[in-house]
Amino acid sequence: MSLRKPGISTIVTHHAEESNELGAHISPIYQTSAFRFPDVETGAAIFQNQHPGYYYTRIENPNQRQVVNKVAALEAVDLSPEINIKTGIPVDGHLFASGMAAVSAAILGCLSSGDKMIAHQNLYGATYTFLNHLAVQNHIQIIWLPAGTASEWEQAFQEHPDAKLAYAETPTNPNLSLVDLKIVAEIAHQHNAWLVVDNTFASPYCQRPFNLGADIVLHSTTKYLCGHGTVIGGAVLSTHLDWVKDSLWNQLKLYGAAPSPFDAWLTNLGLKTFELRMLRHCENAMTLAAWLQNHPKIERVYYPGLPQHPGHEIARRQMFAFGGMLACEIKGGLPAGLSFMNHVHLFALVPTLGNVDSLVQHPASMSHVNVPREERLKAGISDGLVRLSVGIENVEDLLEDLSQALEKI
Ligand SMILES: Cc1ncc(COP(=O)(O)O)c(C=O)c1O
Repeated sequence: MSLRKPGISTIVTHHAEESNELGAHISPIYQTSAFRFPDVETGAAIFQNQHPGYYYTRIENPNQRQVVNKVAALEAVDLSPEINIKTGIPVDGHLFASGMAAVSAAILGCLSSGDKMIAHQNLYGATYTFLNHLAVQNHIQIIWLPAGTASEWEQAFQEHPDAKLAYAETPTNPNLSLVDLKIVAEIAHQHNAWLVVDNTFASPYCQRPFNLGADIVLHSTTKYLCGHGTVIGGAVLSTHLDWVKDSLWNQLKLYGAAPSPFDAWLTNLGLKTFELRMLRHCENAMTLAAWLQNHPKIERVYYPGLPQHPGHEIARRQMFAFGGMLACEIKGGLPAGLSFMNHVHLFALVPTLGNVDSLVQHPASMSHVNVPREERLKAGISDGLVRLSVGIENVEDLLEDLSQALEKI
């Protein structure tokens, strides 16, 4: 048997795809709330996690398991030599009903009232709001880092050596700043803390944080993993299998944020073209970023693939490709940005990302509207910043669309 590991497209088309007893080639949707037990003894053993099997869709369902195994295999592509691609070990996790359910389950699965965590301030707006909410409701102290540089993490851990978690997104939503995951993992581990990484923006095509030392990786599967804008979902994965089995499973079981079998099935369908889509997202984004960078109406472009980007060297070290997301500031500030967003045609004005079609949104009034303005500005999210999710269309058409919208300002 070959020892070579399968590539990304082979994983997403074959791994965890099992034919059922009728021989269905494509996995069926197990649209059932519960599963029948063959006898009381087996039922009791399944219930107590002592026998493999499903019993209730809030706890686990074959469609959810299929997606988790596939995403775990993608995140574990480089984890040789122990990785067993067939079972997904040593990375395991659970699928959730949304990216925010994944964020909250990962954090609540690690912390108790009175604990401390250190977080980069540049985060998805709802994650930022959730952490502030936790601070008040659950008495969890959040130490915020404005820049997320290695020296800031080092200093924060020196001042708070009892912090239990380091939390980061990279590249960040919406202005694509970079966090050096290898260094942060090392600092966190020196203090017996875990590193949690939201890998939604990069996706496991561009970046695999376990390889850099992360303990927990989470996703909004709503985005690149599903890829077609049809589903809201999330996933949490970890190399700490006991934590997945106990704490994370409890989050799913007790808070009840399980995705529907149909949503899991759609996510699996989307995953099958993951590598092909990502290849094109990344190529198109690089072309648009370089073009925008030289456009006379553009003040600044944020894309980690550009050599001018302050995090470019980190991106080159830790990313395999630079992703499909970019942001820019247009000369003339907020009014110019609003005019641009109202004049694009192919870029739909939609507050999500990672779909096959191109999207545009305004962080200050949409995804980050609940972040107080002065905190937003501290994180580098200006009033006029425009965020682009570059789709897989033909790049000439995207360039033409951006060009005509910029001319109309
Ligand atoms: C980086 C990041 N994490 C988490 C989320 C939350 O995901 P969901 O909308 O699926 O709850 C989002 C949503 O945009 C996001 O961009």
